[in-house]
Amino acid sequence: MCGIVGYVGNGNGVQFLIDGLNSLEYRGYDSCGIAGINGEVKVLKTVGRIKNLEDLVPEDLELSIGIGHTRWATHGGVNTTNSHPHQSFNKRFTLVHNGVIENFQELKDRFFKNVNLVSETDTEVIVQLVELFSNEGLTTKEAFLKTISKLQGSYALCLIDSEDKNTIYVAKNKSPLLVGIGEDCNYVGSDALAMIKYTNKFFEINDKEIVTVTKNDVVIENKFGEIITRDTFTPDIKHGEIDKGVYPHYMIKEIDEQSSAMRNILSKYFEDKKISIDAEIVEKVKEADRIYIIGCGTSYNAGLVGRHYFEKWAKIPTEVHLASEFAYNVPLLSKKPMFIFLSQSGETADLRAVLTKMKEVDKDYKFLVLTNVSASTLSRECDYTLLLHAGVEIAVASTKAYTSQIAILSILAYEVATQIGRKMKFNLEKELAVVTSAIDSILDDKKTIKNIANKLFTERNAFYIGRGVDYYSACEASLKLKEVSYIQTEGFAGGELKHGTIALIEKNTPVVALITNTKLDLNTRSNISEVASRGANTLVITLEKLARENDYAIPNVHEDLAPIVSIVVTQLFAYYAATGRGLDVDKPRNLAKSVTVE
Ligand code: G6P
Repeated sequence: MCGIVGYVGNGNGVQFLIDGLNSLEYRGYDSCGIAGINGEVKVLKTVGRIKNLEDLVPEDLELSIGIGHTRWATHGGVNTTNSHPHQSFNKRFTLVHNGVIENFQELKDRFFKNVNLVSETDTEVIVQLVELFSNEGLTTKEAFLKTISKLQGSYALCLIDSEDKNTIYVAKNKSPLLVGIGEDCNYVGSDALAMIKYTNKFFEINDKEIVTVTKNDVVIENKFGEIITRDTFTPDIKHGEIDKGVYPHYMIKEIDEQSSAMRNILSKYFEDKKISIDAEIVEKVKEADRIYIIGCGTSYNAGLVGRHYFEKWAKIPTEVHLASEFAYNVPLLSKKPMFIFLSQSGETADLRAVLTKMKEVDKDYKFLVLTNVSASTLSRECDYTLLLHAGVEIAVASTKAYTSQIAILSILAYEVATQIGRKMKFNLEKELAVVTSAIDSILDDKKTIKNIANKLFTERNAFYIGRGVDYYSACEASLKLKEVSYIQTEGFAGGELKHGTIALIEKNTPVVALITNTKLDLNTRSNISEVASRGANTLVITLEKLARENDYAIPNVHEDLAPIVSIVVTQLFAYYAATGRGLDVDKPRNLAKSVTVE
């Protein structure tokens, strides 16, 4: 995690550094800083948000070269000393880093045995090594290269040298980093969002490459020192997309955008009433004897719903795994597995670890990623990509990416099922259109949903329950609520609550049941009665056709697709529970949107 930026050019880079960090704040926001050369090296750092940093920057500060960082602490507490940029002892070298240096203790013991480093970070070792090697007579680039050759772990780095105000030295391994091309200047940033206000032309950087960025030139070299020629690319995002517009928060904007995301998906994945997905992808899934869906957080929860489609419609056995578990505790794999990765950002380190590991196991394995970011690392490294087309998602709590992932998994599973020869009794395109209108009508009912949220989520704890796919929705609903409102929440399989967790039910504990499957209606209602008779404050979210008095009814949709609709009510619950408590809903404490460390 963490976000980094760099600027070198004829103009004043301060505004770019601040704007870039503001756009990257979703990657971490416990502290931040910038550094640049203006005669001497200036370093400004602070704990807290970029706003605090802006207050520190003198109005007349001009930097023709500079670097910046917004931090999500991994090594060392949250304080100004541990904030980036970090400097070498003689202050000649200044560096920002995103990632984790796994062997930093080893390097510290080897090169700085009886030396007190300034900070507790793994990053400082890097900049001190550059100084050490430079003192041996190496040029800055040579010292940087030698330093990198000693590092194990993940890094995206920008280094500046007080004796050369024309060059930023850049390198990456596993952590994301792009170079943006400007006029009489060039930019560096953790992602295109950080630079899109300034340029739409980018160079991607591959792992282990080193890039020398000056105002008029970008030189990319591989680890053997050979110069690489590479075309620039223009991502599918526009500057306006990253504005909040009339909304008070990104989260509510993105919840609202879910029906337009669905319409986008319908237009991208259907053509002349037929599903339009790369035939090779469908073929690979069809050939698989087992599908392994892998993700983290909200993406994992979307995978749980996706499994239902592959198993019920296409009859292909499907497992869903947490990436962080799968990478180091690989289950017994089938003979012909197909891997489907789910990742909004396409950058999640836990998933990259799975990819690396599985490629080592068998180089012929095939990997498909469903991601929202076309130029993302996973999109580049997997064999196939299906884009979510949800539009940029900025709020840390994922909403529109989740519903888009489920919709696309349903389209893929439906196509595979049809091609395998399964008789599908409904038209998916039509049913997804019904889902889209249902989302719209929920979004039109925000006032009621807000009132319910205010009355319901008054306690320290809350539970969501459901059976079948509603259980998966319960898991996602509770994740959303806990991450933004800090209410301690769990999603439970309705029938399981009584086997232990019911002990936590007290007077007024909120318990919300999701019921979108006719066959399971009565079973879940029994579970709701069990907790209601113990004092719980209960609510049922269900389809209109199943609704009883005091339930919250959502429009009738195809029952298999109902998780795409019912979840929207719970996303709004989370939003209103958090804003009602005065919390920063877009940037919940301790979280980051793109988790690029394992
Ligand atoms: C972080 C975010 C979650 C997200 C998860 C997976 O933990 O806070 O909201 O679901 O990463 O992210 P991905 O980009 O891989 O979907």
